[in-house]
Amino acid sequence: MLQISKDIIQKITEEFYWLHRHPELSYQEVGTTARLRAALARAGVRVLEVPLKTGLVAEIGTGEAPVVGLRADIDALPVTEQTGLAYASEKPGVMHACGHDFHMTSVLGAALYLKQHEKELQGTVRIVFQPAEEAPGGARDVLATHALDDVQALFGLHTSPLFPVGTVGVSAGAVTASVDKFVLRFTGKGTHAAHPERGVDPIVMASSFVLAVQSIISRNIDPAHRDLVSITRFTSGNTWNVIPAVAELEGTVRCLDNADRALIEKRLRELADGQAKSFGGSVEVAWTAGPPATDNTPHWSDCAREVAAAQGLTVAAAPVSLAGEDFAYYQTTLPGCFVLVGTGKSPANHNPAFRVDPAALGPAAAYLAALAMQALIRI
Ligand code: NI
Repeated sequence: MLQISKDIIQKITEEFYWLHRHPELSYQEVGTTARLRAALARAGVRVLEVPLKTGLVAEIGTGEAPVVGLRADIDALPVTEQTGLAYASEKPGVMHACGHDFHMTSVLGAALYLKQHEKELQGTVRIVFQPAEEAPGGARDVLATHALDDVQALFGLHTSPLFPVGTVGVSAGAVTASVDKFVLRFTGKGTHAAHPERGVDPIVMASSFVLAVQSIISRNIDPAHRDLVSITRFTSGNTWNVIPAVAELEGTVRCLDNADRALIEKRLRELADGQAKSFGGSVEVAWTAGPPATDNTPHWSDCAREVAAAQGLTVAAAPVSLAGEDFAYYQTTLPGCFVLVGTGKSPANHNPAFRVDPAALGPAAAYLAALAMQALIRI
């Protein structure tokens, strides 16, 4: 069992408090990056020259293959903190409400440990402090630097308020969903509310679509798959006696099965077009593709589980969520595993009262260091 020193635990706990007090939004993580860079520099960890405006990539070990990676995201959310914590955000309207401060400091703790034990490393550990997970897109920026081209296994973590401190959730396959966003603009013909026959009502058209779109999941998708379509905004009209010309819908498609993504988009477009035409109107579809579903490989999931058990942690299945996670971008080319780390009971991530128990930092840092060392052996 790998144990990290009290000194490292104290350091990363202090960093955690500081980072929690100073949250920064996606692509604005300038102070955060400087803080991480300084902590790594004090420990003598090499920071690589990569073209990132915020975030950084560092390296510990021989500088040669095999190469494994640990990734932490570093951005905060536009949320006003309501935890009442002594170290609460000092920036109004910005909060580490997803625990990325915990991700950074546990990975930092692993890096400090690995640096102390650099001579024992049988290869290289790349440390990735990634900007803009929430944007999302920071993962693609890191991939575009080619700093991870030679990485053979990449691990990432997320805080979980569903698990107590000392529990790690690991599952092979998808643990978070693909995220696509759409805006539909149904156009009819505006008219007097008392004379619907003289117009084309886009509200009826869009309403019909809202009901029809749920048939994609229930009728076109394998019932054993876990996907969803949600309409989250329906905007139309501005008064009681006018039928408007336009109705706008916005929503999201989430898939745990990346293969279902294209089918759902195709059927959604067909239904929107079909519904609009059947009422004598038309529709425009604006589609924005986000990250795919995460895809933990069986090999690295087994490794993540075994290392957790060896570290004396309780191993559970990862709770699957149809939320998105841009770690999935890495997994389109790099094998690895995205694990959930228990940070104690709390309101959900992104809630203004979300909190993590700092007592989880030490075990998480030790676990990540052990996982990196074990991964170097198992490549
Ligand atoms: Ni997050």
